[in-house]
Parts: sequence; structure tokens; C-alpha cells
Amino acid sequence: MVQKIKGFADLLEKETALFTILEEKARDIFSLYNYKEIRTPLVEFTELFSRSIGASTDIIQKEMYTFMDKKNRGITLRPEATAGSIRAYIDSGRQGPSKFFTFGPMFRYERPQKGRMRQFHQINVECIGYEESYIDAEMISMLLHFLNALAIKDTTLLLNSLGCSCCRPEYKRVLISYLKKEEKQLCTTCQERMEINPLRTLDCKIEECIERTKDTPIMLDYLCAPCLEHFLSVKSFLDLFQLSYTIEPRLVRGLDYYIRTTFEVVSNNIGSQSSIAGGGRYDGLIKQLGGKDLSGIGFALGMERLALLLHSPSQALNNYYIAVLCESALEKASILANTLRKHNYSVFFEHTVKNMKKHLKQALSHAESCIFMGEHEIENTIYTVKNFQKEEQKEYTLGDILEQKHL
Ligand code: HAM
Repeated sequence: MVQKIKGFADLLEKETALFTILEEKARDIFSLYNYKEIRTPLVEFTELFSRSIGASTDIIQKEMYTFMDKKNRGITLRPEATAGSIRAYIDSGRQGPSKFFTFGPMFRYERPQKGRMRQFHQINVECIGYEESYIDAEMISMLLHFLNALAIKDTTLLLNSLGCSCCRPEYKRVLISYLKKEEKQLCTTCQERMEINPLRTLDCKIEECIERTKDTPIMLDYLCAPCLEHFLSVKSFLDLFQLSYTIEPRLVRGLDYYIRTTFEVVSNNIGSQSSIAGGGRYDGLIKQLGGKDLSGIGFALGMERLALLLHSPSQALNNYYIAVLCESALEKASILANTLRKHNYSVFFEHTVKNMKKHLKQALSHAESCIFMGEHEIENTIYTVKNFQKEEQKEYTLGDILEQKHL
């Protein structure tokens, strides 16, 4: 047998049912906030990602699935949805505010483990054209509303501000000079990151590095006046909405386009890959990708991680199971299955002859009622219906069944 690719999973009935719940709930909740659904291609020119996500990020340096197409152009399976969504926005010629969301598979060549796949799925939300702090709070509020609607509990909202191009360079200088003192004790990745992307050293998961950097200066102490005002205002809106949050100065995120507000929702119940959603503000990105100088903010939820937190939906039963008891009933039974389906009743039609006991055993786990069709039923043009809930068995005409008289 041909093996499936490592880090790629089949979504069978159970997982697909959970994903459908997630998608339907997202549509319901996001529409309350005036977000519309869009779909963008799974592949884009590699340049789109290298120009947006940041050359020194793990995604660009080692996690992209990149190929050359027949005309020798670099194309990449999308590692996230923001870049493609912004490209689509610019491509459509729109210039004004826009709020949209999308679902679908993303691809990152990471080391697979529980909650971390090479093909995974995101629910991704973007809001373009608003720079006001209210929008940051509204977006976070919508994210928590969605998690609440799914009854996902034991989560923590982490909040930080990464400043802007005015205040971050100064913070980087201070951070680098602090890290220099610890350089020899830090892991090789941190040592490399120190030069090319010093903020990412704060995201290192190695105990020794965390300990060595625990007293580093924090971005929040270096915010310029407009960034500080923005951050304080986001916090007061969250307070107004009575949403609790934890300020996490080490929350730096793995993509370079963020400025100001960044946030993540982490769960205590899914192991080490605990981030179920992450996002932030990316003013400047739209211009960088060739659009107008518009603000933007968004987030994405990991669907595999959310699915780990959902209870499996109980399997929906069919309205009827049709049990054929003799060969001569097969034809009439198939006509009955057709008729019921055309009247919008769901039917599990076992189109093989079996005895009553075998049929009943199967019917119980698949349908609310069982219709028996044997010689007696064919001769008398009636149908014997067993209603499992009422534990009642009676004879009915087709008209009775269509009117649901057995219920
Ligand atoms: P991200 O933090 O890279 O952000 O991913 C968002 C979420 O996707 C994570 O919190 C996690 O739940 C899930 N996720 C990421 N990688 C994997 C993986 N390998 N396996 C399973 N789940 C994973 C972004 O992607 C940004 N584009 C979010 C955003 C939208 N920012 C602004 N707009």
C-alpha cells in the first residue's frame, strides 16, 4: 500500500463532523460582527510569503513547501492565510474597510506531534481599514465569543504590544545588549536569532534560555506615546467588555508582520502545543504588498487543536431503516426508499435480504424507526413499522408513514 505522507492526516467521519461544527459556528458568530466568508488559492508565488511573513522567521527559513512550476517560478503551499487574503483584497481593487474570514488547509514543514501537523487547518479572520483600538478589542471579543459558543473552557487570553517602527528599534538595541551578556549561555538558535531577529529569543522554549532571559527588558516599557495610548485603550475596552486577559511580555509571535497589539489564546487541556489561536495588528503590511496604506488586524484558530477540545457529536440517526425480509420485497423496498428520500426523510436502506434479528441489530444504531418488508407486507400493501423510542410496532399505509403517524 502507498503510505500517507508524514504529518498529513485523513479527516474521517468523526473529524469531519467536528470540523463542520467549527465551520458552522464560525459562520454564525462572525456574521454577527459583519464578517463575510472568502476563499483564496492554496498555492501562491513564494515571493508573497517571503515579502510578508519575514525572511528571518522559522516559516520562511525552514518550513515552507516550495516548488518550481513548469515555467520555473517559485510557488509555495500557503503556510498561513493572511498573506493570501491581503493579496486577494488588493487584487480585487478594493480600497476601503473590509472584514472577512476563511477556512482551509495550511502547510508547514514542522516536526509533527500532538496538535502539530504539516498539513493543518485554520479558521482565519482579517479586518482591513481600521486603526482604532476599539477594533482590536472587538476582534478579541469576537474570538472569545466563538470559543464560548463552542463551550471551550480553561483558556487564557495572552496580550502584548510589539510597538511600531518608531519604538521597536530602540527596544531591539536594548534587548540585544542585554542578550549579549548572556550570549554564551544561550542555545545556538537563540544565539543566531539574537543577530537576525532578537525578539524571537523571548519565544525560546528551552528552560535554560528562559531562565537566562527572564529579566530582559520588555517592549511594553519602551512603547512610544501613540503605541502606549493604543495599548492602554485596547485594555480598557477589554475591561469594559469584562474579558479577562494576562499581559505576556514574552508573546512575540512567529510572524514578522505584527505591530502593536498581539494576542494568543492558550488552552490548558491539549498538551505542549497549547496555542489554539493567535493574531495581532499588521498596519503597514497592505502597503508593503503593493496596496494602499491601510491598517489591518486578524487572527487564526487551529482547527485540529480546537477539535481536540470538542466532544464528538452524537451520531445523527436516520429517520428510517428499511429491512428487507425476502427477495420478492426488494423491488418495492427500493421504491419505498426513493419515495421517503424525496419527501426529505433520511433512509438507511440495507438492500440485502436478512432475517429480522440481524436487521434489528443493525437498525437500532442507525435509525429512529425500522420498516419491515416481507411477504406479509407485499401481499397486503402495508408496512410494519417499529418505533424504537416508543418500543411500539404497528402496521401502516404509505400515506400514514409520510404523515409520520407512527411517531
Ligand atoms: P499562527 O500563530 O502561526 O498565526 O497560527 C495560528 C494558529 O494556527 C495557532 O495558534 C495554532 O492553533 C494553529 N497552528 C499553527 N501551526 C500549526 C501546526 N503546524 N499544526 C496545527 N495547528 C497549527 C497565523 O497563522 C497568522 N496568519 C494569524 C493571523 C491572521 N494574524 C493576523 N491574521
